[in-house]
Amino acid sequence: MGKLLVVALVGIAAALVAERLVAFRNRLNASREVAPVSLPNCRLIKGIEAGSEDIDILPNGLAFISSGLKYPGLKSFAPDKPGEIFLLDLNEDNPRAVELRISRGFDLASFNPHGISTYVDKDDTVYLFVVNHPHLKSTVELFKFVEDDNSLVHLKTIRHDLLTSVNDVVAMGPDCFYATNDHYFSDFILMFLEMFLGLTWSNVVYYSPKEVKEVASGFYSANGINISPDKKYIYVADILDHNVYVMEKHANWSLTHVKMLQLDTLVDNLSIDPHTGDIWTGCHPNGMKLFYYDPENLPASEVLRIQNILSEEPVVTRVYSDNGSVLQGSSVASIYGGKLLIGTVFHRALYCDL
Ligand SMILES: *[C@@H]1O[C@H](CO)[C@@H](O)[C@H](O)[C@H]1NC(C)=O
Ligand SMILES: *[C@@H]1O[C@H](CO)[C@@H](O)[C@H](O)[C@H]1NC(C)=O
Ligand SMILES: *[C@@H]1O[C@H](CO)[C@@H](O)[C@H](O)[C@H]1NC(C)=O
Ligand SMILES: *[C@@H]1O[C@H](CO)[C@@H](O)[C@H](O)[C@H]1NC(C)=O
Repeated sequence: MGKLLVVALVGIAAALVAERLVAFRNRLNASREVAPVSLPNCRLIKGIEAGSEDIDILPNGLAFISSGLKYPGLKSFAPDKPGEIFLLDLNEDNPRAVELRISRGFDLASFNPHGISTYVDKDDTVYLFVVNHPHLKSTVELFKFVEDDNSLVHLKTIRHDLLTSVNDVVAMGPDCFYATNDHYFSDFILMFLEMFLGLTWSNVVYYSPKEVKEVASGFYSANGINISPDKKYIYVADILDHNVYVMEKHANWSLTHVKMLQLDTLVDNLSIDPHTGDIWTGCHPNGMKLFYYDPENLPASEVLRIQNILSEEPVVTRVYSDNGSVLQGSSVASIYGGKLLIGTVFHRALYCDL
């Protein structure tokens, strides 16, 4: 090959990589810094030191918190400790995190919980769905909550070829749910390439024992998923596209696109105010700081409230923001009784008045 051709090819390859790098940095909002927004009476929850990745609050004020996620490329403050599910009673003035006991027979050593969702059945049985990554694979674990002795009884482990890289679930019944796959690949190198190249191969899957199917696709990285209080709409956060999708749910469980709300931050989990329908999100203002953890340059936290998402002009409010000096890497925000509980990917949990 002529030297000129080699130089030209190397030049083209370098330009493509540089172009992808710029796009990748934009998807991570890599240069964003946040201005603080504070709330009154914020305190850190005792007992939670290594993440509070996802939070689900029951109507009676009991909050489930998944903790101890270990995920390729993400920081962990307790890399050798199995994950845990905590319970917090938000009716108390100073709620304390209590670890839920998990029934025998379940492999606790490899427990690596990610997104969670509760389902309260007609007979008041509380089911807890937990995305699990034992040995970095993806399963969804179904538990029954036994309030009397603060325990979870393991009912079954759900695995499926369409549940490859599960991030979050939203329960639709005692044995069915929608799940987001945040990547197409589950191998770390391929997953990174998928993100770096900006492939939109992430999707949403409906699961029931009878039927499993893809119901939405084309996401950079589908993350948090939740449902409107009237059960008509499903909301999906695309963390790398900085937006929230609204999709209509049909009787056959298929979803159709209704609208998309563009934001300027990496939207992680979505939580819904059951009374107003407002969407509360834990966000990462700057994904670069989250993925490349540096104690000298901490990942920030940001909480947004989205009101009237179905209207022509939804109202987006930055309710809380911190540069990481108090709370690092907020991934979820839920409200109960005029208070806000903010969880993080691998750091602590903060409880504030609104
Ligand atoms: C963050 O992302 C949004 C779009 O998703 C963009 O409008 C904004 O300029 C970005 N901010 C920074 C500082 O990169
Ligand atoms: C909560 O946030 C984590 C952090 O990235 C995310 O991976 C997880 O899927 C989220 N869970 C829910 C229920 O949205
Ligand atoms: C599901 O229902 C929707 C709306 O009624 C319809 O448009 C769609 O074709 C149905 N899909 C399947 C696979 O039956
Ligand atoms: C972070 O914010 C706190 C208070 O809002 C401020 O005191 C501190 O200097 C900030 N740190 C950095 C690194 O900007």
